[in-house]
Amino acid sequence: MVPETSDLPPAVAPVEVAVIGAGYVGLTSAVCFAHLGLRVVCADVDEKKVRALAAGRPTHHEPEIEDLLRAGIDRGNLRFVVGAEAAVGDADVVFLCLPTPMADDGRPDLSYLTDVATAIGPCLRPETVVVDKSTVPVGTATLVADCLDRSDVTVVANPEFLREGQAVHDFLNPDRVVIGGDDHGAVDRVAALYAPLGCPVVRTDAVSAEITKYAANAFLVTKLSFANSVAAVCEALGGDAHDVLLGVGYDHRVGHAHLRPGPGWGGSCFPKDVHALLHLAHDAGEPFHLLQAVLDANESQFDRVAARIVALASRGGQDPVVAAWGLTFKADTDDLRESPAIAVLRRVSAAGVRVQVYDPVTDAERLATFDPDLGVSVASDAYAACAGADLLVVLTEWGEFARLDLERVAGMLRTPQVFDTRGVLDRSELERHRLLPPPLERS
Ligand code: UGA
Repeated sequence: MVPETSDLPPAVAPVEVAVIGAGYVGLTSAVCFAHLGLRVVCADVDEKKVRALAAGRPTHHEPEIEDLLRAGIDRGNLRFVVGAEAAVGDADVVFLCLPTPMADDGRPDLSYLTDVATAIGPCLRPETVVVDKSTVPVGTATLVADCLDRSDVTVVANPEFLREGQAVHDFLNPDRVVIGGDDHGAVDRVAALYAPLGCPVVRTDAVSAEITKYAANAFLVTKLSFANSVAAVCEALGGDAHDVLLGVGYDHRVGHAHLRPGPGWGGSCFPKDVHALLHLAHDAGEPFHLLQAVLDANESQFDRVAARIVALASRGGQDPVVAAWGLTFKADTDDLRESPAIAVLRRVSAAGVRVQVYDPVTDAERLATFDPDLGVSVASDAYAACAGADLLVVLTEWGEFARLDLERVAGMLRTPQVFDTRGVLDRSELERHRLLPPPLERS
């Protein structure tokens, strides 16, 4: 729920905030800070994107963002400009929300961040606080300060903990805010921006703030690989993974969050951050063996799910065809980066199985641009994907999948069986329509 602006305590204005980068983190931060009553200017290098955003049209799929975008523009406290230099001249606080993609060696590529810091250095007012919001390796706050080359400007680390698909909700209802820096005054100025949200604030040094973000994601993937490994054991022994993990998660020391098994974990953050932390730990002489095992377990999960799909589809005889629902890395986002669905389907297609996929937000053109070699065809709707297939596999937990007519699905499939990797479909309905696949054969 987005709280009404009028319900919030008065903002700590007048503060002008510049947000550099209008991606998932930057745009969310910009619209939410504007919602909290701050004056916000958001910059991006992509002119087309800036034009769309300035006209109130979001450039990626994210619930609730359009309303806040339009409200901020209408209120007059949210604007968009091309280029970081154009945004920072009057800013009291500058948030760097730039991509840190994984380079070929598995380490984050920091060139976007360092290029922007170098460019904006001369444009900043004295006493400006520059905030690293991107997930960055330890020591980046110092690196950014070096690039800014301004003794009268302070750098603070304030990692974000947003989930795509719930980004606005997470920003406005944070579990905590972590702010790290040596200058306590600068840390307090950043903390004041979040004061209306009334959440715990962890004040620390920059290095600890930077590690906190990696450690949080490392814990979450550990939980996920654990859940997927338990699911594999359940499948082999004839147990029901969803029931088992429900039982485990009720222990308040464990909790149910991020304990849902699936085809493996992915997305634009987890794989990148896991690799980055593995490198950081290795370089520091403290190899993180547990995290390496978590990563290996995820690769095994992709292999295991793909092998199961191929085996089930082959029950239909020669030239098996698989229908797949879901392509994005999870529901409620249009982000295809490091998608587990794609990792699995790449393996299935490499095994010579034909795949017909349906995804609520990805058409054939978009998939072809993203991954021209995946070798799957894209159907116009969920039922069309099932036509003549020997198995339907559900790879993403979109709510709309749960509302589809399984009787109709059963009628479209050549071999009526459904492998629901996310547990999103109604199990009793699957049973009623005889769509549950046979248990795994023990070797
Ligand atoms: C993740 C973290 O959850 C955020 O806290 C963090 O801020 C963000 O990375 C980041 O570093 O920027 P996000 O990548 O949006 O957020 O996605 P999640 O909702 O965490 O899902 C990641 C993957 O785990 C997806 O593939 C998802 O399908 C999978 N997942 C998640 C499961 O398989 N089961 C679950 O119970 C939850």
